[in-house]
Amino acid sequence: MKNLSVYLIAAACSFSPLFASGTALLDSKARFHPVISETGMVVSQEIIASQVGADILSAGGNAVDAAVATGFALAVTLPRAGNLGGGGFMLVHLAEADKTIAIDYREMAPAEAHRDMFLDLEGDVDNNKARYSIESSGVPGTVAGLIHAQEKYGLLKLKQVMQPAIALARGGFAVSADLSDSLKSRSQRLQQDSASKVYFYKPGGDSYELGETLIQTELGATLARIANGGREEFYQGKTADLIVAQMEASGGLISHQDLVNYHVVERQPVCGDYKKTRVCTMPPPSSGGVHLVQMLNILEGWDLKGLGHNSADYIHRLVESMRRAYADRSLYLGDPDFFPVPVAQLTDKKYATVLRDQIDPLRSSRSVNIKPGLGETGLSLQATKESTETTHFSTWDQWGNVVSNTYTLNFSYGSGISVTGAGFLLNNEMDDFSSKPGSPNGYGLVGGVANSIEPGKRPLSSMTPTIAFDADGKPILATGTPGGSTIITISMQLLLNVVEFEMGVAEATAAPRIHHQWLPDMVFYESGISVDTLNRLKDMGHRVNDRASRLGATQSIQRKAGTRLFGASDYRREGSGAIPQAQQ
Ligand code: DON
Repeated sequence: MKNLSVYLIAAACSFSPLFASGTALLDSKARFHPVISETGMVVSQEIIASQVGADILSAGGNAVDAAVATGFALAVTLPRAGNLGGGGFMLVHLAEADKTIAIDYREMAPAEAHRDMFLDLEGDVDNNKARYSIESSGVPGTVAGLIHAQEKYGLLKLKQVMQPAIALARGGFAVSADLSDSLKSRSQRLQQDSASKVYFYKPGGDSYELGETLIQTELGATLARIANGGREEFYQGKTADLIVAQMEASGGLISHQDLVNYHVVERQPVCGDYKKTRVCTMPPPSSGGVHLVQMLNILEGWDLKGLGHNSADYIHRLVESMRRAYADRSLYLGDPDFFPVPVAQLTDKKYATVLRDQIDPLRSSRSVNIKPGLGETGLSLQATKESTETTHFSTWDQWGNVVSNTYTLNFSYGSGISVTGAGFLLNNEMDDFSSKPGSPNGYGLVGGVANSIEPGKRPLSSMTPTIAFDADGKPILATGTPGGSTIITISMQLLLNVVEFEMGVAEATAAPRIHHQWLPDMVFYESGISVDTLNRLKDMGHRVNDRASRLGATQSIQRKAGTRLFGASDYRREGSGAIPQAQQ
């Protein structure tokens, strides 16, 4: 029960309802309608940032320019997740080269980090230290990652794509209901940090109300320095000095050398085929791609459409696939530069067949009986060295280039600690490591050696930026979501809604979701799953959570025919937005 409450607290990275309507009616059967464009589109969790990206498309930028502009803008307008002090993953599909690249800009553990750094004298994990202390921060990767993408794959100059973010920070923007509410709800924690108190609250500590202007002068100055000095400014210039000064003043671990050593890695995406759809997604150090493909492989063996969307029989199969994938996650997944993650075996269709054959179509299994890799059959996976080439937003340009990007501070507002003088929050991504085998992190996820803390290692993630392709190899969907451990299962349901159940992207976004992650042995669900269905699941032996949760915030773009794009930002979070490129 303890695991469950920890999980729910952390996973509640603020979900709020909003039912927005789209701009056009295309499918008379659909209850939800997408935003439509014949050229380009940007979909993100914060509508001002989406507009920034769409404007960059209109100014001649490509999908990468738009993504980088949106990423820097979100660092200003969505401070709980948009960031300079965190890290993430960007999947880029380049139309002309017909190539998809996975850019890993996940945080790295500082050189002074060590396996037991979050254990107390009794050998138990000190969750407060792992989640809210200065030591909970990994070396930030976002600035290196965004600049890497921009310089290598963008068309415009860094200064041009960063200019809107600088203007938003310096000139301010109108606080949305979502931002106002989320800052109020985190006020106690954020105001414990003197810099965060100044950056995100009025003098005296009052919260900003809806429509009031939030100006972030020091963040604006940091962004301007980065726009002028590039990556070196953040990792070796004044911003680096401010980060290290903060660390030295409060016992943090990140040194100048750690910042110099930070590096982006371009990796091969993990790809798999679900029937006629090719799915390319993020490889380790995210677990997202491996388990998305693994679960799709298991599910491919059933006639899901015939079972009916969100029927008990369908949900039962989803849950049993999720249970097995998350069991494997706990043992086999970690940073591939430190641990030989058996990607090929986990995503092998034959392995999926073995797992599928274990699943009783009428009875739920118990997680306690499902062992990683062993299942109930005694099969064992070999850990082998794989190739080392290894808040969500999606962008799509008029040339067919696509970006699917998820980045994060981990918890809402990360550690809550801001870099004094630099205006941005630090991540608490070190909690995504497994601090002690079997001890759950902030999302109830357990792990072991594969994801133990080591200097220079990247903590295991669930972020699952994904691009799907049709039988001709042309992109048809870009999607991803926040939600901690729920990211992988949410991304999969969005994808299945589109490719298996043939929903438009808005309908696919709105459809109720479920989640299971092996431990706790519990089905989480959203309102909209009927009581009858939940009762049937219970009759099959499933443990169903006693109240509905809200799961994720997908930001998706779909191409259905020709070049027409359909965008859907998730109705679950107020303030998100799909913005089409302006007509020329
Ligand atoms: O990398 C991960 O898997 C987590 N740090 C993601 C955190 C997250 O999605 C928070 N939002 N709800």
